[in-house]
Amino acid sequence: MNVTIIGAGYVGLTTGLALSYIGHNVCIVEKEKRKIELLKAGKSPIYEKGLEELLALVKKNVVFLETPGKEVSNSDVIIIAVGTPPLENGEADVSYVERAAKEVADCLLRGKSYTIVIKSTVPIGTNDKVSWQIKQRLKENKISCEVNMASNPEFLREGMALYDALYPDRIVVGARSEKAISDLQQLYNPILQQTFTPPHFLPRPNGTKLPHFIVTDIISAEMIKYAANAFLALKISFINEIAGLCEKVGADVVDVAKGIGTDKRIGMSFLNAGIGWGGSCFPKDTSALLEFAKKIGYDMPIVSAAREVNYRARRAVVDKLKAYFGDLMGKTIAVLGLAFKPGTDDVRESPAIDIIKILLVEGANVKACDPIAIENARKVLGANEEIGFFEDPYKATEDADAVILATEWPNWANMDFEKLASKMRNLLFIDGRNYYEPEEVKKAGFIYMGVGR
Ligand SMILES: NC(=O)c1ccc[n+]([C@@H]2O[C@H](COP(=O)([O-])OP(=O)(O)OC[C@H]3O[C@@H](n4cnc5c(N)ncnc54)[C@H](O)[C@@H]3O)[C@@H](O)[C@H]2O)c1
Repeated sequence: MNVTIIGAGYVGLTTGLALSYIGHNVCIVEKEKRKIELLKAGKSPIYEKGLEELLALVKKNVVFLETPGKEVSNSDVIIIAVGTPPLENGEADVSYVERAAKEVADCLLRGKSYTIVIKSTVPIGTNDKVSWQIKQRLKENKISCEVNMASNPEFLREGMALYDALYPDRIVVGARSEKAISDLQQLYNPILQQTFTPPHFLPRPNGTKLPHFIVTDIISAEMIKYAANAFLALKISFINEIAGLCEKVGADVVDVAKGIGTDKRIGMSFLNAGIGWGGSCFPKDTSALLEFAKKIGYDMPIVSAAREVNYRARRAVVDKLKAYFGDLMGKTIAVLGLAFKPGTDDVRESPAIDIIKILLVEGANVKACDPIAIENARKVLGANEEIGFFEDPYKATEDADAVILATEWPNWANMDFEKLASKMRNLLFIDGRNYYEPEEVKKAGFIYMGVGR
């Protein structure tokens, strides 16, 4: 099929390259010139495992454009995957989606049939609104063609984006027209049936089950995305709330999580207590859901509480430091991990970034460390002489008074704690992800503080 993707971010680029890999003719439209130039040069503008290798495999078959062109007009399926960042009041900003839809509408040809898909996470009702806007634009342009709208929410995890695109649990499609549903079934068929040959760098995992193809109405599809993210966010917040109580009574939340997660009804995933969730999805999607519900007069206290618990975990880390040192003025704190989670360079709403901001307000100096995300962290933290940036954790901790592990990068799994301790001024280790065995850390002379243990 001929497919256009609008937006080459984490979702658009991953989806576009994956669709090309399984045999479609793909055009990717991205308005940021820098990203298009990088892509044309075979470089990925974002860090995602396997993405650059996949780009090398499919590059010749993908057209990269800065503005929509004839490839868009000739597409059967057009997927809008632009950002929906939070507005100041917490609502999702759908203006990028609306603008993209208008640009798409201007490319549509008389007499042709198109399936236009919104993959961006959008508030309930947006697909219908955008569908109306496209029809209005076509009327203005005096173009008569068939447009079938579909909502196709995305569930990929950053750091695992390509894996999730090729081996998803489910593909959700919300649509009114049979044509849109059959187009998307055809589009995803090699993934639904797992008939493609896996790329050598991303083999199909043993026991991969065929993804569910869930067809529903448009509003339910929009709701599924928000409900999924809200549920995952509150599962983490729940264990973090329990972790706080564990700290008060001397229980170990790691054992508690195991004790409850082995119950099949609960499950182990998303039960790792820590300094909370961040990223470009859970914070903005929970807030957009709450704002949307508020608008229609519906209270969502559970989602609201999940957010409250999440954000207090960031403050709690600094409170632990203050309880130990009394005052953080002039103390040097090494923060290991800036990305909101391992495997990505994304620092949007990263707990580490907020913790650094609080540390600076408290008068501390910060040595910030990350293997991939320094460039993005610099952009959000700005030029500040109280912050030094390091890729190497052993350099970052030199002369530090305390370490906070904020992101559990796998390449730090076998940390040499003796080496880390040897050049530090004070030996306090705050394990914000309960990543290390407390005894291992303590053996090197550290005072170890995890979350809820
Ligand atoms: N990142 C994730 O993990 C994830 C997962 C699931 C769903 N989502 C949702 O998918 C959507 C996209 O997320 P993302 O993280 O990929 O965003 P992103 O900010 O990384 O990428 C969006 C891209 O769209 C481009 N863009 C905006 N308007 C454009 C236009 N008119 N024409 C061409 N390009 C345009 C931007 O320049 C940017 O490169 C959001 O709604 C998000 O909530 C994201």
